[in-house]
Amino acid sequence: MLENSDSSATDFQKLYTPQSEEYLNHYRDVVNELFEGTDQRMGWYDPWQAWIVTSHQLCKTILADERLTPDFMNWKFAPPPTPEEDKNDFEIMLDNSLFRLDRLAHRRVRRLAAKAFSMSQTDKIMAGIVDIVSDTFDKVANEEVFDVSSTIAVEIPRRSIARLVGIPPENSEIFDKLGWAMVRYNGFTTSPEDRAELLKIALAGVAMLQDLIAERRAADTPGDDFIGVLLEAQDGDDRLNDWEVLGIVAAMLAAGSDTASDMHPSLIYALLDNPEQYEKLKQDPSLVDNAIVEALRYEAFGKTGLHRYALEDVEFEGITVKRGEQIIIAGQAAGLDPSQWDNPQEFDITRDLNGNIVFGTGAHVCAGLFLAKAQAKLMLLEFMKRFPNATLQEMPTRDPDHYNARHVTKLLVKTNI
Ligand code: HEM
Repeated sequence: MLENSDSSATDFQKLYTPQSEEYLNHYRDVVNELFEGTDQRMGWYDPWQAWIVTSHQLCKTILADERLTPDFMNWKFAPPPTPEEDKNDFEIMLDNSLFRLDRLAHRRVRRLAAKAFSMSQTDKIMAGIVDIVSDTFDKVANEEVFDVSSTIAVEIPRRSIARLVGIPPENSEIFDKLGWAMVRYNGFTTSPEDRAELLKIALAGVAMLQDLIAERRAADTPGDDFIGVLLEAQDGDDRLNDWEVLGIVAAMLAAGSDTASDMHPSLIYALLDNPEQYEKLKQDPSLVDNAIVEALRYEAFGKTGLHRYALEDVEFEGITVKRGEQIIIAGQAAGLDPSQWDNPQEFDITRDLNGNIVFGTGAHVCAGLFLAKAQAKLMLLEFMKRFPNATLQEMPTRDPDHYNARHVTKLLVKTNI
């Protein structure tokens, strides 16, 4: 039985270089080398003190396994927990977020919050987001060349999430900053000094949300936006308390801010770099939903994968993962696993994507799934309508220091209008 000291686990370290320049710009080649260079689909990666899993099937199995948790406080290297009486409001909010709740509490909160994340609620909210999308495109409508990263990828997700949650416009900046701080606060590469700075920003955001919830509770009706629906949610006598509502908003910000921003350039880049697929989509816009998921599979922007921590000793593929050890589910590799996908290195918007894990799977499957897809769809349909002849002006520029993504900092598109 293999354990993490076994020398045969080192292939991953030789072949998998997610922080390299090469991975940044040619991640599919790096993943391909890993698949071709070793039969192992789970291996120890010393720099991150984690087991990395690349097989699509095994990633799915692990995501569905409740002996593992995404709560990093169960990692053997987690910082010591703050005593309850010393916790600040931000820490209490994080304790209540969907990634930190234990299995039963998580299940209860997801059940109560289901309506707020439902397709019908998303449809209602998206109707209010149509103008955000069209405003954003108006700003670049007459440009010969424009940068997707600093326009569409910033404006649409940022304004959409604030509108979704029901943040008044005067508080949108503080809300944005909370999202920014939230994502980085929990990053496993964040230093204690940076964490202290992020805390200050986050506490201001939490106070703003607490005031908003108090106002809504005091109003005759809490409103029909996301917070309103959460405050009204009920299962028998069971209701969400204020910390739980805050915890859900926290999880949305943590999981839905950077991801949504990274999604937009990925979609446009994948299509314009494969003009025949862009042509196909223009001929048949009903392929848009499939094209979005395919672009997320093919152009996967994640670099660090999804994290799980073993609550007890568990065994996968003959490897024992000890209690407290970390497993990284490399969804970006799973999307290219040749035993799951035909010609995984090809971008094909008509591909059968059944069983994909682009939005995760199991108890923690993306709660913002409908919202992310709806936002992407509005954006892509508008892009195609405005710029049917668009081409890439140059290859994207990516941030080599981004903590968890192949984040695109510049994507210049030639509109050819
Ligand atoms: C392209 C955009 C997005 C992608 C690819 C994505 C992907 C994912 C994935 C893979 C997970 C599973 C995490 C895990 O198992 O550890 C997840 C969870 C989650 N996502 Fe998304 N997501 C996106 C956008 C969003 C948006 C826009 C929101 C909300 C506004 C959101 C809210 C959430 C929440 C709350 C969870 C945690 C669910 C839980 O733990 O129960 N996501 N997402």
